[in-house]
Amino acid sequence: MSKRFYLTTAIDYVNGQPHLGHAYEKVVTDVLARAHRSLNQEVFFLTGNDEHGQKVQQAAQAEGKTPQAYCDELAAVWQRFVTRLNLSHNDFIRTTESRHKDVVQAILAKLHAAGHFYRAPYAGFYSTKEETFLTERDRRPDGSFDPFYGEVVELVEENYYFRLKEHQAWLIDYIETHPDFIYPDYRRNEVLGFLKNNILEDLCVSRPSSRLNWGIPFPFDPGFVTYVWFDALSNYVTLPAAYNDPLVLQALNLPPRPNTPALELWPADVQVVGKDILKFHAVYWPIMLKAMGLPLPRQLVVHGWWQKDGQKMSKSTGNVVDPIAVIDKWGLDAFRFYVLRELAVGPDGNWTDAGFQSRYHAELANGLGNLVNRSLSMLKRYRQGRVPKRSDELASDAAKAAAETKRHIENNELQAALVSIWGLVTRANQYVDQTAPFKLAKDPAQAARLDEVLYNLAETCRVLAVLLWPFLPETAARIYAQLGLKETPDRMAAAAWGALAQGQTLGEVTPLFPRQDQPAK
Ligand code: MSP
Repeated sequence: MSKRFYLTTAIDYVNGQPHLGHAYEKVVTDVLARAHRSLNQEVFFLTGNDEHGQKVQQAAQAEGKTPQAYCDELAAVWQRFVTRLNLSHNDFIRTTESRHKDVVQAILAKLHAAGHFYRAPYAGFYSTKEETFLTERDRRPDGSFDPFYGEVVELVEENYYFRLKEHQAWLIDYIETHPDFIYPDYRRNEVLGFLKNNILEDLCVSRPSSRLNWGIPFPFDPGFVTYVWFDALSNYVTLPAAYNDPLVLQALNLPPRPNTPALELWPADVQVVGKDILKFHAVYWPIMLKAMGLPLPRQLVVHGWWQKDGQKMSKSTGNVVDPIAVIDKWGLDAFRFYVLRELAVGPDGNWTDAGFQSRYHAELANGLGNLVNRSLSMLKRYRQGRVPKRSDELASDAAKAAAETKRHIENNELQAALVSIWGLVTRANQYVDQTAPFKLAKDPAQAARLDEVLYNLAETCRVLAVLLWPFLPETAARIYAQLGLKETPDRMAAAAWGALAQGQTLGEVTPLFPRQDQPAK
């Protein structure tokens, strides 16, 4: 048994509308998952839904449904969403599943027995919208709370608290001695700044069941359910436990599930999250893991936020990008390409329909699409679709693009990887212009030269398919099919030059990215 490369996304609130931001995070994680598989690693990729909490309870009530029925309907919407994104995930976690509840209860029991919790009264203000307690420090100068918090109520109640202060020193030390733990660097500095300039307040990990019952009951005190973030973060070890990961079963003292082969998953290799939930993942989650006796994930990859036309996306202003509408009109790979090429993993991005269309036409239709279409069409026309003898004129350009792509992927530089791949697209398009195969075809004395040019072009298309696979899997598969190749281009090793065999016969050649003149929806 060997350790899998384990990747996770944040789990989305089931009651939110799937939009560009959610799609982006999933596509980034999917590219990393496919890329690591392509590099021969055994990968496990997890995504899912976060389903407990007061907001869900209230929304279900408002619709006259039980919270479970309400969640089941919405989770089906999210599952259709991930299918439309062609994610290569291995499982989909819902926090209302019994496999998850069992793990959360095991974590609570262990931490309680080890003395990490205490029970204490609390009197103060509470935001239902954010499911969080507010302090005097959260007041604005005029004494009111920010409308972001929604309705704020005054509460007096007992709760369980997780002692965090004692964890502050080792966490700072850990982050300082593990420079790769938080990517990119400026997010790491942000966390260190926060930890060095604040004393961690103990984390309230319960809610009284009298006020909130849509949550996981405390195993040692039925009067309480689990705070939704403690519940949600635990999902990342629920899956390893459900697949009998020995490390997690042992730490949580859980019995193995019968008839389930064991997988080694934990620690996660990459956990992809948005910048808004960094504190939960870089502060609370490591402390929870340490208290459980489990190692920390190897890396948190923190992405930025998308805006639309320079403004925050919001339902009220109607400027929410609906990825499904874009995919319906332009195709999935056009969507994947735009978000990955437009924005590096880290900073914030800005979606514009004009920018989307411009990249579609310039880089996909005129760049990649045109290269593949004219290369393979000429091979059909001049050589009856049969690949000529090997020639290595573009081999070093292809090798350079492959080496750069691999290096960028290993460093989470997905945008830079696409820039490298498009370097090869541009080089090959220039090669067509420089060698002018349509002229060579008119002169029988140039037949050998035409063979060379056509081989270089066809083989470059094949290498491009291999490099593109993690990013644009449908397009990569279509290029292979047009080359008449039966396999899937899902192994990076296949990017090595020269694999296209003499005599190989092309399949049907059709445009990859038809031009579209209607504005994007
Ligand atoms: N349920 C919590 C996460 C729990 S993880 C243990 C949550 N859910 S969410 O639905 O609000 O957000 C899910 C992910 O989508 C987060 O990583 C968040 O950063 C990301 N995005 C939501 N809106 C976004 C943009 N506008 N742009 C980019 N990503 C954004 O938080």
